[in-house]
Amino acid sequence: MKLIFSEDRERLYRWIVDQLEEVIDGNPSPLIGLATGATFEPVYQRLIPAIKDRDLSGLHTVNLDEYYPIQRNAPQSFYSYMRSRVFEPLGLDSRQTLVLNGETSDPKCACQAFEAYIRERNGIDLQLLGIGRNGHIGFNEPSHVFEMETHLTQLSDVTIKDNLRYFKSKDSMPLHALTMGIGTIMSAKSIVLLAVGESKKSALQALISGKITPQLPASILKLHPDCTVLIDALAGEDLDWSLGTRI
Ligand code: F6R
Repeated sequence: MKLIFSEDRERLYRWIVDQLEEVIDGNPSPLIGLATGATFEPVYQRLIPAIKDRDLSGLHTVNLDEYYPIQRNAPQSFYSYMRSRVFEPLGLDSRQTLVLNGETSDPKCACQAFEAYIRERNGIDLQLLGIGRNGHIGFNEPSHVFEMETHLTQLSDVTIKDNLRYFKSKDSMPLHALTMGIGTIMSAKSIVLLAVGESKKSALQALISGKITPQLPASILKLHPDCTVLIDALAGEDLDWSLGTRI
């Protein structure tokens, strides 16, 4: 796991945009794994002008996760987030993008179809990840096992608390989600995790100095051959920056 630190978040955002451009330019039909959340909003804001004039007809994307159950067009759905911030601005066709369907009556079948789609496209070339305060990646919450395949999961109390701000009340917030599995994330050819802000400090500390455990799902990334973790000054405040590269 490679670490990159910066006091300037802008440099981290630009680094990710450069990686995405490299994957798009280096492959006629790349499959990119996208993440939602507050962390990635500035990345997508910078990505759109950088690539919108390119021919993106060969590009396909999958998203890490979606609340369950949720109406696809609800403002809080990850589908709505992606549609307004990425798919529409880039003019991507619905056949080019796959977001797990929070409306499905058969979550198991939706998860299997999601796995099959990734296999058919020869795997994910680059997967973007954020990290939860509790060390979750996608919505793989702390648990006693790593769930390898895409699945329906229960959101943890920490995640419900953190994401409640997007909903009117706890009663209107979905308490479950569909998430890409840990094995599926780990099978991506390369992975970039972005951690910004003070709230990510203790998860980062545990990730870097702790052991590999399903209690901290992100810890599995230490076993990935090409995973880069980008860390800003607040998230990296307690870390030894000489363990990585400073940009
Ligand atoms: C989102 C996702 C989550 C978020 C994480 C951090 O698709 O998979 O793991 O990356 O919860 O969320 P933010 O960026 O809002 O702090």
